[in-house]
Order: sequence, then C-alpha cells, then structure tokens
Amino acid sequence: MLRSQLGADGSFSLFSERFGEGFHGAIGALSEARAKFVRPAQLERFSAGRRLVVVDVGFGLGTNSAALLEAAAAGNLTLDIVGLELDPQPLRQALASDSFRRQWQPGTVAMLWNLLEHGTWCEGGGDGGRTGRGSEGSTARLLWGDARRRVGDLLERQQLAGGCDLVLLDAFSPRRCPELWSLEFLSALARLLRPDSRLLTYCCAAAVRRSLQLAGLRLASIQPPREQGATDPCLRIAPWSFGTAASPSLLPIGTEPDSPLRPLAAMEIEHLSTRAAEPYRDPGGQAGAAEILAARQRAQAASGAGSTSTWRRRWGLEGRSRDSVEPPRQPA
Ligand SMILES: C[S@@+](CC[C@H](N)C(=O)[O-])C[C@H]1O[C@@H](n2cnc3c(N)ncnc32)[C@H](O)[C@@H]1O
Repeated sequence: MLRSQLGADGSFSLFSERFGEGFHGAIGALSEARAKFVRPAQLERFSAGRRLVVVDVGFGLGTNSAALLEAAAAGNLTLDIVGLELDPQPLRQALASDSFRRQWQPGTVAMLWNLLEHGTWCEGGGDGGRTGRGSEGSTARLLWGDARRRVGDLLERQQLAGGCDLVLLDAFSPRRCPELWSLEFLSALARLLRPDSRLLTYCCAAAVRRSLQLAGLRLASIQPPREQGATDPCLRIAPWSFGTAASPSLLPIGTEPDSPLRPLAAMEIEHLSTRAAEPYRDPGGQAGAAEILAARQRAQAASGAGSTSTWRRRWGLEGRSRDSVEPPRQPA
C-alpha cells in the first residue's frame, strides 16, 4: 500500500506501508533530489556534449533521474539512465497525479510514461544505440526486479563494469531495506564506477560508509546548500551529515563554505570504528531483511569494535534518538 503525500517543499511523494517509511526525506522529494543527488553530482565538471551513464537504484517515482535529466539538459549533457526498481506501482501512482506531472517539463514526463509503459525511452529518436542506430539525445531504460540480481546482469551480461559516471543509491533506509545496503551489493555497485565517477546517497549510516570503504571507495560528506541548512528538518534531527559521496578516486573537496562535498569530520571518521559500522551481509544475494538484520546483530555482539554509546556520549548525542545518528527517510 502506497499513500500519496507532499513534502515540505510541496513536491509529490509517497509513503510505503510495507517498508514503514516515506520515499523521501521531510524536505520534499524535489528538494532532496536536487540537494543530495544533482548538486553533489557536480555536472559542471563535464564538458558540454558529454554523455554520462547513470544507474539509479530504487528508481521509485523517478524523481532523482528526472531532476538529473533536467539539470543535464541545462548543461548541454546527455544521459543514458538505467533505473533499477522492484515495483512499478510508485511510478504509476505518481504519474496519475497532476501535481507530480506539473513538477516536470513535458519531455521529462514523456520519459517517465515511456519507462512505465515500455521500459525504455529515447529522446532523439533512434533506439539508444541498441541496434547501432544510436540516439542524439538522452536515453533511459528501467530494469524491473530485485536490484541485487539486476546489478549482476549489468556487470556480467551488459559489461557495464567500470562504465558508469554516476550511481544514485536511494533505497529505503538500512534498517528497513538492508538488502540494498549489504557489503556485497555495495561492492557490486562500486564495480560499476569509472575511476573518477561517484556513487551518491542520502544515507550516512556508519555500516554503509564502512562497506563503501571496504569496497575500495573514498568518502566525502554531502553538504546542504547554504539556504537549505537552516530549514531542513532532517538536519534539525541529525545536524552532523546530509549524505555520502563515494568514488574510486579522491573526491575534489571544495574549500568554499558552499561546496557540495566536504571531508568526513572527526566525529564521522570515529563513527566508522564503532560497532555501528558492522556491515550488513548478504553473501548469496537473496537473503530477506530479517535474516540480514539478525546476522548483523550477532556479528555486532561478537565484535571487538568500539562501543557506539561511548561514541555518542563523546560527541554529545547521548539521550538523542537513534534517528539522530541514522536518520530514516520520513518515518510514519
Ligand atoms: C526510497 S524509495 C526510492 C525513491 C526514488 N528514488 C524517487 O526518487 O522517487 C526506494 C525504492 O526502492 C524500491 N525497492 C525496494 N527493494 C528493492 C529491491 N530489492 N530491488 C529494487 N528496488 C527495490 C522500492 O520499491 C522503492 O521504489
């Protein structure tokens, strides 16, 4: 069951009864897509005319891909988007809403309709290169099913290893959907990345960050745009981080206060040596959420890593809810 709802910015989102969580943070779907995915992608790094390969994990309503597509067009870039999604219902429900369709330019709505109905879209005619006819414009395809299996296909059958410029990782939070935050799944996503490319996620959980490091990636913290920092409800709950960027190469960290990326703070680095950083494990790639969570709890109990409560005390988080350390998407 999916419930429609509007975020603080008035943009359209959904709440999933099954996962017990909103599809987006309280700031709203559109603001979040722009601040946590589009802005830290730093599209201005790419020269006009470049084609970028983007994998959007947990495509949902398509908000992240749609926002990225519009930003890319403004920068004269084209995208080849591959969306991974289990369930067509979020996109169907969003497209049935006037307020959702009004958020986007007509071409973007056409992309979303085509993905829902045919699983593919091609902006400039042609077929996106599948028969050699190519396309002048952006292309998108949506691969339905469990993203764990689909990423295997992308790596092995479609030979996309080392071929992606951006991976947008937007699953429900690790406590609700650990399947898409396991060390094994994150390592598979890391294999998609080109040396100078980025994986971006709203998530700042220590287990996820540690797993990204174990997968060979370097980390940076995503910073909110200055005007958003003051008003973002997520930042009032968890003021210490706004998301994570990871890359096979050292990420360019700006020194200006408005830079989208900053180095991890001492507090965040220390968090990675506590028990909270115990990875979610799913060696066979098909375990259920309960099984993954139980195995992690056992591993934490047996771990010699530092205590997370000591870390919380040291950094003034004692007495604050667990959500202040690992903010969920919007809770019920
Ligand atoms: C937080 S929502 C994504 C929101 C989306 N990025 C957007 O911008 O609208 C998480 C999405 O992950 C999908 N999902 C959950 N488990 C999945 C799995 N194992 N494989 C693929 N998608 C999954 C859900 O159906 C949901 O659409």
